[in-house]
Amino acid sequence: MSTLCYLNGEFLPLEEARIPVLDRGFIFGDGVYEVIPVFGRRPFRLQPHLARLARSLDAVGIRDPLNAATWPRLIATLIERNPFRDLSVYLQITRGVAPRNHAAPKDCQPTLFAMVSPMPPQTEVQPVAIATMADIRWQRCDIKAIALLPNVMARTAAVTAGAYEAVLFREDLLTEGASSNVFVVVDGVLRTPPHSGHILPGITRDTLVEALAGTPDAVQETDITRAEVLAAEEIWLTSSTRDVVPVGTLDGWPVGQGAPGPVYRRVMERYDAFKQRELAASA
Ligand code: PDD
Repeated sequence: MSTLCYLNGEFLPLEEARIPVLDRGFIFGDGVYEVIPVFGRRPFRLQPHLARLARSLDAVGIRDPLNAATWPRLIATLIERNPFRDLSVYLQITRGVAPRNHAAPKDCQPTLFAMVSPMPPQTEVQPVAIATMADIRWQRCDIKAIALLPNVMARTAAVTAGAYEAVLFREDLLTEGASSNVFVVVDGVLRTPPHSGHILPGITRDTLVEALAGTPDAVQETDITRAEVLAAEEIWLTSSTRDVVPVGTLDGWPVGQGAPGPVYRRVMERYDAFKQRELAASA
């Protein structure tokens, strides 16, 4: 099915969208992106997503091509003009078109591209397989940069090994998945790595932390060692496109007593209620 996308001020069928080969996104991976989930045609956690996009743009020195009022309008128009009820909106901004030179030009007109994809139907949760791998990325993984070669290599190696996602370790410490954040339950305590330059500050991660604050399942944001991950009773992945997914096997070995575990089931009730309240409030 053809979808309608947006490129530099124009709405057009996705197959017809074109960018010049000298776009610095194509030449250098010089750009940032964002992925916003939409449920029942309502964006979920729109402001945190737009705030992260603004931080990414600022960190790499690309001018924001829109503003606080026009970003929500663009997203609303894409939702209206496409047929899906549950979808994700992909936004990409590159520094723009310029002769090839590593030094960023001062006066570049950013390229703004946006598209939508239908969200897979939210059916019964299926536990996924993960494969562990070395995290070979840079020190600014907090920027949502379009240059994703290490993530692509890790996820491809995971899929080749029969897994769904790669889970990454920097030296002995858990960082995140190739395109997800990671939570573990160790000795009954729910934990996730703290914000740093080694992980993307995932909006789903932060939402789960917020939804559970002050409850008996409050999340501890602490370093997590490889030994702790291997001994975890439960492991979950979070992302805007998959929400919270329990892990069934790690490098082929079952995780805990079988997924989804008791903490997952308990926490998901609270998380789903939080999500429904937020979506209702954004009407
Ligand atoms: N990826 N870590 C990385 C490296 C990611 O690429 C993502 C999301 C996450 C989870 O963040 P959030 O909860 O805000 O989606 C963590 C998106 C979905 C993607 O690249 O398609």
